Amino acid sequence: MGTSGTNRQKVAIVTGSSSGIGYVTSLLLARKGFYTYASARNIDKTAGLQSIAYAERLPLKLIQLDVTDDSSVNDAVEKIVSEKGRINVLVNNAGYALFGAFEDLSVDEIKAQFETNFFGVVRVTRHVLPIMRAKYNGSGVIVNVSSVNGHVAFPVISAYVATKFALEGLSESIAYELEPFGIKVILIEPGAIGSNFMKGSVLPKRALDPESPYSEFVQKVRHKIGSDHENATQPEEVAKAILKAITSDNPDFRYAVGKDAAMMLETRGSMSDREFQDLITQQFNLQNIS
Ligand SMILES: NC(=O)c1ccc[n+]([C@@H]2O[C@H](COP(=O)([O-])OP(=O)(O)OC[C@H]3O[C@@H](n4cnc5c(N)ncnc54)[C@H](OP(=O)(O)O)[C@@H]3O)[C@@H](O)[C@H]2O)c1
Repeated sequence: MGTSGTNRQKVAIVTGSSSGIGYVTSLLLARKGFYTYASARNIDKTAGLQSIAYAERLPLKLIQLDVTDDSSVNDAVEKIVSEKGRINVLVNNAGYALFGAFEDLSVDEIKAQFETNFFGVVRVTRHVLPIMRAKYNGSGVIVNVSSVNGHVAFPVISAYVATKFALEGLSESIAYELEPFGIKVILIEPGAIGSNFMKGSVLPKRALDPESPYSEFVQKVRHKIGSDHENATQPEEVAKAILKAITSDNPDFRYAVGKDAAMMLETRGSMSDREFQDLITQQFNLQNIS
């Protein structure tokens, strides 16, 4: 990629780059010539990424960014603008899953889930937009990493599902507002991906309590989601979809990633609500829970 005029090197920022999708996406973008700010809330976790970037002489820089912390987001964006003067690609990727039957979750736990998965995107995007909108910036693409659960609800992750449904609505709506400024908004909808996602998920004590009326339900759903993750799609596939979306002149609005995601979304589209609920009940083996 060149460095002048419309061909000047594009600047990208990726949130949640310490592992999984964010990690491999940061590497792929840098390897493809984007000047990439790989951001992480805990910079100590990025030593591996740093050493690969150094060994391969990649245009990749690590930067501290906690999506739940306004001043951290502000500092990171200011630093990028002072160093590079532009931001062409924002990948809102940071996120985690809160597991537990709805009644076993506290309002604070649900708020914390939204604070990262939804308001994290809101916060970073609001800081980046004035820069992307500026004429000198050249171009802008915002990639929001949603999920198949942005369309399809599973039990026992209601708070997570709610954040991803909210993210889908936000993305659809702002896409109209940003189009006149030449800024594209894209949704990535992965199925089960082999990352730290399951290990990093939050499972509050109450949700695990064998005395919980939902105990059997939670065990069954955790088991099913856990076994889906054993045959998971590699995070590199998500990174490739992100690259395809941001380098296309006419990208799709949504990219499903993984056979499971494509199949699930297609099935959902072809069934009535009731038929689909019955299918999920069967797939998660929830028929005989009293
Ligand atoms: N894996 C899947 O099956 C799957 C499927 C569909 C969608 N997704 C979505 O893909 C995205 C990435 O997940 P992943 O699968 O790559 O899981 P992952 O390996 O657990 O990565 C999640 C990343 O988000 C970061 N993060 C969490 N809270 C943060 C915060 N407050 N500020 C900044 N970074 C934060 C984590 O940082 P730490 O290392 O510091 O925790 C980590 O870098 C998420 O939005 C997830 O919902 C995943």
